[in-house]
Amino acid sequence: NNQEKEKEYEKLYLIQDYAKRFFIYQLHYTKEGQKNGLNYFIHKRGFNIKIIQKFELGYAPISWKLLTISVLKQGFKIRDIKKSGITVFKKSNYFFDCFRQRVMFPIHNLSGKVIGFGGRNIDTISSTKYKYVNSSESNIFQKSKILYGLFQAKKNILKENFCYLVEGYTDVISLHQYGIKNVVSSSGISLTVSQILLIKKFTKNIVLFYDGDRSGIKASLRGINMMLEQGINLRILFISNGEDPDLISKKYSFSQFRDFVAKNSYNFISFKQKIYEKFHKNDPIKKSFLVKNILNSISKIPNALQKELYLQEASKVLNIRKKILISELKEINEKYV
Ligand code: CTP
Ligand code: MN
Ligand code: MN
Ligand code: MN
Ligand code: MN
Repeated sequence: NNQEKEKEYEKLYLIQDYAKRFFIYQLHYTKEGQKNGLNYFIHKRGFNIKIIQKFELGYAPISWKLLTISVLKQGFKIRDIKKSGITVFKKSNYFFDCFRQRVMFPIHNLSGKVIGFGGRNIDTISSTKYKYVNSSESNIFQKSKILYGLFQAKKNILKENFCYLVEGYTDVISLHQYGIKNVVSSSGISLTVSQILLIKKFTKNIVLFYDGDRSGIKASLRGINMMLEQGINLRILFISNGEDPDLISKKYSFSQFRDFVAKNSYNFISFKQKIYEKFHKNDPIKKSFLVKNILNSISKIPNALQKELYLQEASKVLNIRKKILISELKEINEKYV
């Protein structure tokens, strides 16, 4: 039965690999792909050919069935194509390609095999189409358990002993092209424990670099406790609304980037304090929530010495005596034991 499963997975890998090569061919060697896809990557996103090749980017044509029909011609069975998530089957004779008229970002597993795709809408005027479509979950593709870009980044993460965690595909690729190669993305989905454990295979140090908009801040706040619980040493970048790592990489030269990071990265305490300052300046009730919120995060830290040091830091940043923080922390701990 295990053998059956492996055979099934092997077919899924082959279908994904075929689709990857199909999308690459479409991007580079068809008129439609050059005009819509290559043009988009090079002129709208500023990607160069080298990075397009490194991330194996592609293009899905506007045609309804070209990919599925090509895969069928290769001899793959409908049963397997169904499991691969590249085709939508309504009835056995009525089906269409999942990705149409989109630029394609293949998602690799740790050993470099393609396990799924994200496809971006290039037709920026139409708001009726989703900006991104992703492969549906399959036996080889579980979004909550993978990190986009980890295959390309893992060597550099080991070398640098830290990694940037960003939201999106284009953030990863732009930073790579820019020269920042220790970067992975949680692909927009809210960070999971599996993803944190995956990073921990390579480093315990994470710089969280999510978008500067409301949902990016919300996602950062949500990720903090999860990462602290896993013993991650965490820094968080605080950037302006409307910016994301992709745009930052276009705004600053590579030599300015270190400075930018140094000036705008915070530990979780100062990060939360910054957000409080931005949205609720001088509201004592809101500040009491902030204090509790920070103490709640501190309570997640497994290491006792670090916990103590962060308590000291909190006392300084919040300007509240440590004695009071400790008694509040005790209350929190009792609530959760
Ligand atoms: N995402 C998704 N589906 C959506 C929106 C987003 O899967 N409808 C995922 C994608 O992986 C995307 C990431 O969430 O890369 C971050 O979303 P967003 O910040 O909106 O997109 P960007 O990556 O900034 O893409 P772009 O710069 O092309 O707008
Ligand atoms: Mn975003
Ligand atoms: Mn957005
Ligand atoms: Mn973004
Ligand atoms: Mn973006």
